[in-house]
Amino acid sequence: MALHPIDWFKPTGWQLRTEIVWDRGGGMMFNARMFCRFDERIQWLVRGDKWKWNQDSVGLGTVWRIAKEQNKEHPVAFPEELPHRCIFATTDPGDLVLDPYMGGGTTGAAAVKSGRRFVGIERDPRWFDCALRRISEALKQPDMFIEKPARAVRAERPADIFDTTGR
Ligand SMILES: C[S@@+](CC[C@H](N)C(=O)[O-])C[C@H]1O[C@@H](n2cnc3c(N)ncnc32)[C@H](O)[C@@H]1O
Repeated sequence: MALHPIDWFKPTGWQLRTEIVWDRGGGMMFNARMFCRFDERIQWLVRGDKWKWNQDSVGLGTVWRIAKEQNKEHPVAFPEELPHRCIFATTDPGDLVLDPYMGGGTTGAAAVKSGRRFVGIERDPRWFDCALRRISEALKQPDMFIEKPARAVRAERPADIFDTTGR
């Protein structure tokens, strides 16, 4: 029996508002003797009625054809367009974006360029430092029409948390 991820969330009160299919246009399963998976799913979960929606995003639909990232340091980095669309559609400038699996910092870069505050968590120091560099660069070039977020600071270890909230 196949279990949809939303079944894990049901008892918690979160509801699936939209599922998006990311068509990344390729994959790697050379010896698997089955069809190669070219897609990933993005689940937009909401709780209660306090969620946000930017009507400018309505035309994007539920299938996003965005080529996978080739040139970033992290081996499975997202293309920045992916978190950018999610952040733009469901948050306002100044809102807080959390990425608990930060990797090379793609979501953080997209967040701060759009004037959102960002907190990221990453357990591998190599990727944490990579994200630190990338988000610090992104902080220098946010959207010119949006107020610049606070400076980036690294929280005390052992929690490897990257925090642009300025606290
Ligand atoms: C798929 S990668 C994220 C890639 C990221 N979206 C990007 O574009 O660079 C997942 C990351 O989560 C980190 N990770 C896995 N388990 C973790 C945990 N329990 N706490 C913090 N980070 C974790 C891994 O080290 C890895 O870098």
